[in-house]
Amino acid sequence: MSSSAPIGVFDSGVGGLSVLRAIRAALPHEDLVYVADSAHVPYGSKSQHYIQQRSLTLTMFLTSSAIGLNAKAVVVACNTATAAAAALLRSRFGVPIVAMEPAVKPAVAATKVGVVGVLATVGTLQSAQFAALLGRFGAGVEVVTQPCPGLAEQVEAGDLWGPTTRALVEQYTKPLLTRGADTIVLGCTHYPFLRPLIQDIVGPDVALIDTGAAVAQQLRQVLAAKDLITTAETPGHELFWTTGDVHVARDVFAKLWAPEAEVQQLPDEFAGLHELKHVESS
Ligand code: DGL
Repeated sequence: MSSSAPIGVFDSGVGGLSVLRAIRAALPHEDLVYVADSAHVPYGSKSQHYIQQRSLTLTMFLTSSAIGLNAKAVVVACNTATAAAAALLRSRFGVPIVAMEPAVKPAVAATKVGVVGVLATVGTLQSAQFAALLGRFGAGVEVVTQPCPGLAEQVEAGDLWGPTTRALVEQYTKPLLTRGADTIVLGCTHYPFLRPLIQDIVGPDVALIDTGAAVAQQLRQVLAAKDLITTAETPGHELFWTTGDVHVARDVFAKLWAPEAEVQQLPDEFAGLHELKHVESS
């Protein structure tokens, strides 16, 4: 494996760009390749099997020598896909797989009143991994969990402040505030893009915690331990793919990443459009 190879990153859609930002800040010289699986978003309401198939396919795309990307490591920039598929990816691929989990541990350490809220997808909150996370770190505090159907889709649409997004955030944060939470975990990588809106709604005294920066540090450590940090001294590049509509994606990437972000269509054999038709017709 070559240290000059890129780092592969994927998410159900554009949410993982919040993690990519942290990776770019921590590793300025690395080339980064990102896949937004936006044709299949949301993962949060899909079966574990479905998410596993998509995660295998996207990791194959990112690491394939036939395609030429040959990623030296893959970051699962999605809490839902981590819960459903990280273990499977680790068992199938030789490259390091770095994955996410909701920031329950730092939130439990940060709360002053002993009440922590967690905003995440249905898939994450129902997973065995999340139950295990609560078992390990949740003792001694009240952890109030709130699934947020529809919220990732608002970010996919680039709607970070509109009335529908605001109404969803109000609805989903209310039970946490009612219980008195002073610390809220943004347990889905789409939600950091809503941080200003969420903060506006919950008020300045509630801390919002996400794991983008921690995952970027972990990635750096994993690469360093395997001698895989690039020796390049020039700024790294980003390449973006989507399985969704490329024109819509360009607008949203321009808003969430940078106006000049170049987004390409993922080749059909990796886009899983058959799986999609199957789900839509079932
Ligand atoms: N970005 C994904 C996560 O971190 C969730 C969005 C979705 O439901 O697809 O969990």
